Amino acid sequence: MSIIEKFDRLARGYSAHDYADPARYAARRTDVMLATGPAVPDGATVLDLACGDANMAEPLLARGYRYIGVDGSGEMIAEAGRRLGDRVTLIHELIDRYTPSGPVDVTVCLRAFYYPSDRVAFFRDVAAYTRCKFVFDFDPRVYPRAEIERDLRAAGFAEIVLQPFFLPQRVSVPAPLRAALTLLERCGPLARLALRVRGIWFCAAVPPR
Ligand SMILES: C[S@@+](CC[C@H](N)C(=O)[O-])C[C@H]1O[C@@H](n2cnc3c(N)ncnc32)[C@H](O)[C@@H]1O
Repeated sequence: MSIIEKFDRLARGYSAHDYADPARYAARRTDVMLATGPAVPDGATVLDLACGDANMAEPLLARGYRYIGVDGSGEMIAEAGRRLGDRVTLIHELIDRYTPSGPVDVTVCLRAFYYPSDRVAFFRDVAAYTRCKFVFDFDPRVYPRAEIERDLRAAGFAEIVLQPFFLPQRVSVPAPLRAALTLLERCGPLARLALRVRGIWFCAAVPPR
C-alpha cells in the first residue's frame, strides 16, 4: 500500500483519531507557527502543504488569513471540503509537484516535510514561491537538526529560526502541565536537553529577499 493509499483510508474522522484534542493542538500550532520567525502580514495567504483534513484551516481563518490546502490524498481533501466548504481553497496534488499560481506569504508543512524524495529540490521550490517564511516541524531524534539546516541552506534559505514544541499530540494533558510545557519551550538550554527525549522543533526558514 502506498503512503497516499494509507492516508486515503485514514481520512474519515482523521483529526478525531490522530489528535487527543484536535482544536487545541491546531490552535497551539497556529500560535507557534505565527510567532516563530518573521511577523506575518494581516490578511496573509497561508499555503498548507500535505494539509491532511486541513485541521489548521479553522484557527488560521479565525485570525483573518486566507487558506490554501494541498494534499496527495483525495480522501483527505474530500474530508476537508465536507467540513470547510468554500471558505478555503483545496487542491488534490502531490506537494513535490505542486506550484501555486502566484507567490504566497507563508508556506507550512506539518508532520510531512519528509515525504518528498528530493528534500533540497522541495525546499528550493518552496523558497521560490514563499514571501515571508516556510514553517515545518520535525523530530530531532529522527531527523538531525544539522542535516535539516544544511538542506535549508543548500536550498537557498537565508535565515533559520527554531522553536521547541512540547504539547503532546496523542495524549490530552491537564492545564497545569500544559502551562509547564509552554514554559519549558521558552527555557533554551533546558528545552534543548528535553528535546533529546521528547518534543519536536518548529522551524521557520526565511527565503532570500
Ligand atoms: C501525518 S499527515 C499530516 C497532515 C496534516 N499536515 C497534519 O499535521 O495534521 C501526512 C499527510 O501528508 C500527505 N502526503 C503524504 N505524502 C504526500 C505527498 N507527496 N504530496 C502530498 N501529500 C502527501 C498525506 O496524504 C497526509 O494527509
